[in-house]
Amino acid sequence: MIVTIDGPAGAGKSTIAKLLAVELDFQFLDTGAMYRVLTWDAQTAGLDLSATDRLTAHCLVRPMEMRAGHLYLAGRLVGPEIRTPDVARDIHFVADNPVIRQHLVNLQRRWVDDQNFVSEGRDQGTIAFPQAFCKFFLTASPETRARRRQAQLQQQGVDSVFEEILAAQLERDRRDQSRPTGRLLKALDAITIETDTLAITEVVARLKHIALARRPGPQSDSSC
Ligand code: C5P
Repeated sequence: MIVTIDGPAGAGKSTIAKLLAVELDFQFLDTGAMYRVLTWDAQTAGLDLSATDRLTAHCLVRPMEMRAGHLYLAGRLVGPEIRTPDVARDIHFVADNPVIRQHLVNLQRRWVDDQNFVSEGRDQGTIAFPQAFCKFFLTASPETRARRRQAQLQQQGVDSVFEEILAAQLERDRRDQSRPTGRLLKALDAITIETDTLAITEVVARLKHIALARRPGPQSDSSC
């Protein structure tokens, strides 16, 4: 059984998806990390990311695995090194590439197979798992999302300028919404949750309630 959570950067998807997975006793898949680690890896290898054929060939042969809920690339555990502004700046080279996207969607489907997963990203309800029994689209205003990002950076001891964060985020939104394949899109059957005025615990509780009510099986209640 699959629950998908899609939405723009900073809507709280990762935190919420992780907590929801615990609540439902499902596994959690952060698909953004897959795009991030390939970007980080290509940068680290010194590739020119704008050289599409070379980038594609490199990404397709790098072995990516999920082991005990953790992501590995070429046998190495993926960590916080993928969550930097440099990776965010260049990620479009990987995320806009239809061949790499298809490769990653294939991996996502193989990992999820017939297990119980909460899978989070941009195209999970539309492309990767259109059959998911419950789909959410999490969103918040650009200002709220940028404020959250600034608070996150502050917690890490990084000073930042709000306007710069907002501008970078709007640019990422624009790219995420306009790529030819796998663009950020609400599935027709997804439920939109605006998170501006909700605490994380409230969002998780709401999603859990809906997911349990929709869960297929003898006790399912399809009225929500
Ligand atoms: O979710 P996160 O911010 O970590 O995602 C990083 C980037 O990876 C997104 O801005 C998007 O460009 C790309 N991505 C994607 N499809 C997904 C998940 C992420 O294109 N399913």
